[in-house]
Amino acid sequence: MSSIVDKIKELKTKRNAVILAHNYQRGEVQDIADFTGDSLGLSQQAAKTQADIIVFSGVHFMAETASILCPDKLVLLPDEHAGCPMANMVTLKQLQLKKKEHPNAKVVCYVNSTAAVKAESDICCTSSNAMKIVSSIPEDQEILFIPDKSLGGYVASKLHRSMILWEGYCPTHHRILAEHIISMKKEYPHARVVVHPECTSDVIALADHVASTTGIAKYCRESDSQEFIVGTEIGILHRLQKENPQKSFYAITRLADCTNMKLITLEKILWSLEDLVYQVKVPDTIMGRARIAIQRMLDLS
Ligand code: 13P
Ligand code: SF4
Repeated sequence: MSSIVDKIKELKTKRNAVILAHNYQRGEVQDIADFTGDSLGLSQQAAKTQADIIVFSGVHFMAETASILCPDKLVLLPDEHAGCPMANMVTLKQLQLKKKEHPNAKVVCYVNSTAAVKAESDICCTSSNAMKIVSSIPEDQEILFIPDKSLGGYVASKLHRSMILWEGYCPTHHRILAEHIISMKKEYPHARVVVHPECTSDVIALADHVASTTGIAKYCRESDSQEFIVGTEIGILHRLQKENPQKSFYAITRLADCTNMKLITLEKILWSLEDLVYQVKVPDTIMGRARIAIQRMLDLS
């Protein structure tokens, strides 16, 4: 009897599908993916794939972004409930009201947002290009950064630039506390501290390196250090350990576990390919404007 992995591979070929997986996915899902990466890398892969079907192992906004970039392809999210709580912290109505308060502000929208909110924004960014995107906007231009106040605050402090920050945040990354790092640094004095910019500012202040998930993987690969204290969602440990079997990685807290990301399993990927579910489509009324905001980002990346 063939294994679930064999069945997925067979069906993937038959349907001319590609599996894209985020760095926070379960290890076995990352292992079966054609490409594993951060939000920017995944959208770039989606934009250039020759496949007819994209099985998106990640959360809803990622599948939506892929669908916006490839409207002629079938984009499947293996669990329709895999959402991002931060993306739901800004609604279209709330953004429209805020824009009325700041009619001259350019809206920079973290890709962790709904398509409707992207459509109402000027340009998107991810954690790997946020600095570049904000820098591309003239100094005297007012900016409203949505929805992640942590990423926005990090960019603002690095660029010495004030921005209006939305009150959104990632509940998973906010479970990582500075006190955790302080006690771990005593236990592992030679370890480098790497964190994601969705962490709070006091956590970021203790880091040796701050980067997107793929940026964290690159740093750990290229660093001479043998030990790393890792401040991001724990799914990334699989990739870090796989790419660097001789190095040691310590999660700052196992509580940094995004249950939405973990909703995707091998079984659901197989069912998704069998039944072509769950199809993610963006209404035409939103699609065009959301694509402009995403494309502006990709052109600068
Ligand atoms: P990146 O992989 O782009 O750094 O994003 C992190 C994240 O939280 C995605 O939900
Ligand atoms: Fe959203 Fe945070 Fe989960 Fe990423 S890790 S999907 S930002 S809740």
